[in-house]
Amino acid sequence: MVTEGVAWRLLAFGDPREVVRQERLRYDDPPAGEVLVRVRAAGAGYPDAMMAAGAFPLLGEPPFGLGEEVCGDVVAVGADAPFTVGERIMGITAFLRGWGGYAEYAYVRAGSAVAAPAGFTDEQAAGFPIAYRTAYAGLVERAALRPGEHLVVLGAAGSSGVAAIQLGKALGATVTAVAGSPEKLAFCRSIGADHAVSRHSTDLTKELLAATGGKGADVVYDVVGGDTAAAAAKALGRGGRLAIVGFASGAPVTLDPVDMLLRNYSAVGVLADAHSREGEAVVWARLAELAGQGALTTPVGKVRSFDQVPTMIAEQTNPPAGKIVVRVA
Ligand SMILES: NC(=O)c1ccc[n+]([C@@H]2O[C@H](COP(=O)([O-])OP(=O)(O)OC[C@H]3O[C@@H](n4cnc5c(N)ncnc54)[C@H](OP(=O)(O)O)[C@@H]3O)[C@@H](O)[C@H]2O)c1
Repeated sequence: MVTEGVAWRLLAFGDPREVVRQERLRYDDPPAGEVLVRVRAAGAGYPDAMMAAGAFPLLGEPPFGLGEEVCGDVVAVGADAPFTVGERIMGITAFLRGWGGYAEYAYVRAGSAVAAPAGFTDEQAAGFPIAYRTAYAGLVERAALRPGEHLVVLGAAGSSGVAAIQLGKALGATVTAVAGSPEKLAFCRSIGADHAVSRHSTDLTKELLAATGGKGADVVYDVVGGDTAAAAAKALGRGGRLAIVGFASGAPVTLDPVDMLLRNYSAVGVLADAHSREGEAVVWARLAELAGQGALTTPVGKVRSFDQVPTMIAEQTNPPAGKIVVRVA
């Protein structure tokens, strides 16, 4: 079966409003391990802006499609993909091989997808896969957050931060959110954070230590890097773990190995990377279960139309609170 559809593609690095263009593409049957979906909605995120700027580490030169995650109806199934035609699924697109989700049709990695929970709207499902799979990688697989521990989430009102707040609460942790404005701090509390601290505090380390009752944080979920992450790392307690997830400030955190030694804390890198097929299936089933229980719910913010994709990508460098989603069909 061959399908044709319109897709937004990056033609060169630069301002997305100038270099992201619509093209009509031909979609062959999906390769093994993928499905082809008719896209209902697609989730946006800071990586879109990084990709347009040529700052995303895992992609080469344009042209390529943008859009890492979608909710859509399966129209064709590749070998070894456990889905059937007509199923509404949410999952991560084949963007790493150039096929994104800001498109009428998208290839989805079957190992990084699951049936969309019945209680989820298309927009909630589209905004779920990347942030919540990453939060699972960071908090469960890498930093091994335990019930009763204290989790500090940086960039907490952003896509990744929101997911870490919710998953941290679902895992039984106390959560302190760090964000940049009173509105974003209130938003973090509204989705479950126990404490909320401004990243503009004159002494962020002191504020975070106070939030943990002086004991220090057990885990810092770092999606921003830079000075904010360095200040938060100083608020880690003994045995603490710094989960390095991203660099929304533009720079990674600078680590001091002597400080790590003296205060007995560690740093772990986090990449939401599919490992074994069986292992991934367990992770996605657990995420879908928590979503079905209402413990994880994408807080959808602005919903953009398909023709707004270039401006929406430009907006990702400083998005408002809430997940931005594109309505496709
Ligand atoms: N490792 C992985 O597998 C993985 C997966 C997904 C995303 N990521 C990475 O995670 C990062 C965040 O992605 P996202 O989609 O969550 O982005 P996002 O929705 O834009 O959120 C990022 C947050 O960072 C904060 N921020 C921006 N500039 C800052 C600065 N100078 N200092 C401190 N905080 C700042 C902003 O909040 P305030 O204005 O409230 O401070 C913003 O809400 C990106 O680098 C992305 O590539 C990694």
